[in-house]
Formats: sequence, C-alpha cells, structure tokens
Amino acid sequence: MSPQAEIIHGLTQVAPSLSPKYFYDARGSALFEQITVLPEYYPTRVERGIMAGHGPDIARSVGTGSTVIELGAGNCDKARALCELLAPKRFVAVDISEAFLHEAVASMRPSFPDIAIQALVADLSADIVLPANLPLAQRLVFYPGSSIGNFDPRQALALLSRMRGLLGDDGALLIGVDLVKDASILHAAYNDAAGITAAFNLNALAHVNRLIGSDFDVAQWQHVAFFNPVASRIEMHLQASTDTLVRWPGGGRSFVRGERIHTENSYKYLAEDFLDLLRRAGLPNTQVWTDELAWFAVVLARP
Ligand code: AVJ
Repeated sequence: MSPQAEIIHGLTQVAPSLSPKYFYDARGSALFEQITVLPEYYPTRVERGIMAGHGPDIARSVGTGSTVIELGAGNCDKARALCELLAPKRFVAVDISEAFLHEAVASMRPSFPDIAIQALVADLSADIVLPANLPLAQRLVFYPGSSIGNFDPRQALALLSRMRGLLGDDGALLIGVDLVKDASILHAAYNDAAGITAAFNLNALAHVNRLIGSDFDVAQWQHVAFFNPVASRIEMHLQASTDTLVRWPGGGRSFVRGERIHTENSYKYLAEDFLDLLRRAGLPNTQVWTDELAWFAVVLARP
C-alpha cells in the first residue's frame, strides 16, 4: 500500500488509527530529539547510562563487530557512542526520515574517518534490503531506544525474525527495551509538563495534511496518552475537542467530539517475556544489562 492509501485506510476505520511512523517528518524528528532530553522521559537517558556503565563489558561480548547496522538511527547520537565503543569497519544507518538521516550521517563522517558510513532510507515495517555489497560476516544489528515497543508482540516477533535474517550465524542483535514499571512513571514520560510529547503527537496531523492533502485543523485536537496495563503498553491518541469534518482529495470523514485517532503504542516488557520473544525469533543466546532500578534493558542476542 502507498503511504497515502495506508493513511486513508487507517483514518476511515471505525476505530481510526495512524501509524507512528508518520510522526517523523523533519519537525517530528526534531521534536522527538527534544523528548529524549525531557526530565520525565527516562528511556534515552537510562539506556545511555547502561551503555556507558557497561560499555567495556558490552564491547567484550560483542567482540570485534565489523559491520554495525543501526535501525532507526535518527540523529545518530547513539551510533556515535557505539562506534566509539566498537570501532567497526562499516556503519549503516537506516531510518525512515530521509532529510534528517542524510544530515546526521554527513555530520558523523568527519569524526570517524576510518569507518565506512552509509545511509539507507527504509521503512522497518516493510522489508529491509541492505546494500548488496555489505559483507555478511560479523554483523551487529543495533536497535536501541525501545523502538521495538511500537510493534505489538506478534509484529515484534516478525520484525525480530527479519533482523535475525539480516545476520549470519556469527552475527548479533543489540537491542534496547523498555520494561514494565510503576504506571505513574510511565504516564509522566508520555505527558511531559512542557507539552513536547503533545506537540509531537499533534504534528502527525500536519504531516498527514501534507502527505494526503487533508485539512486537519490541529487546533481542534488534543494529545491523550495513558498506560494500558492489560496490554502492557502506553497508548497515544489524538482526541477531537469538537465535532469536525476532515476532507482530503477524493474523500473525508467526520469525527465527533471526544473521538480518538490511535497514533502510537509503546509496549513495556517483562524482561523474561522479551527474552522469550528473542528465543522464538531465532536469537536464543542472550546477555542482559540493566540499570539499578531495572527500568530499561539492553540485550545482546545471538542465533
Ligand atoms: C521511539 C517508539 C521508542 O515509544 O517511547 C516517545 C516514541 N512517543 N514519546 C517511545 C515516543 C512518545 C518512543 N519510541
């Protein structure tokens, strides 16, 4: 399905939804960067702490990885730290946000003259096709930030299996995953006082307006985020604050006051459940590093 068809399909369901990948236009990527430094948004900070605190240990376990492939590289901040730690021969940064990715890769190159750095624009919910000349030996797929949380467990299993498929038998996956914790901490992380997460969520409508030519009035929508303990996920929605009609070329739909568009899930795992998922994806040999509060885990998983 084209992005346009996919967006319209989601918006016209009885329970309307929009994929979180549409958060990441240039403004959305910049807003996400702001989220990662918010006091309430612990995942980036805690993961960085784990990587820094256990860096030598992680490097020893990974070994001399010659090719690092980061999925969802964003601003390449984490890639810098990892490349300093592992000094790989090659680094491939994969992201869906094209302009942002090329800028990030270009700014990274001067600091790592000995690493061959490539950018690859790809949507992780579709097939990931790596450059044909990329050696198969000693690949490390890096998927930090609990981005895996955007997928429901069934989709996550499929994605982890595809990541396994990118690796030879000597390869490994280094992945960050957010863990279940007190609901008030989770709630605060997605309802920051500065309203950055709200702006990030609402920006998806402006992005959609450009993509499908719709006329969403962002001022008529509100950010809603809460922890759903049954599904073990944060849910983000956009809620209509008034009855409203949205049009786009060839169609449209009306929303009643209070109606919501589901824009994101962010699953929170029990460590053992996540290891089970990795095992089912063909990555049974795992090592886990966590912070002292066990809020977040960094897992190295091998075939
Ligand atoms: C990039 C998917 C890991 O789920 O925490 C942050 C996105 N959404 N605040 C997350 C996000 C709202 C983030 N991930």
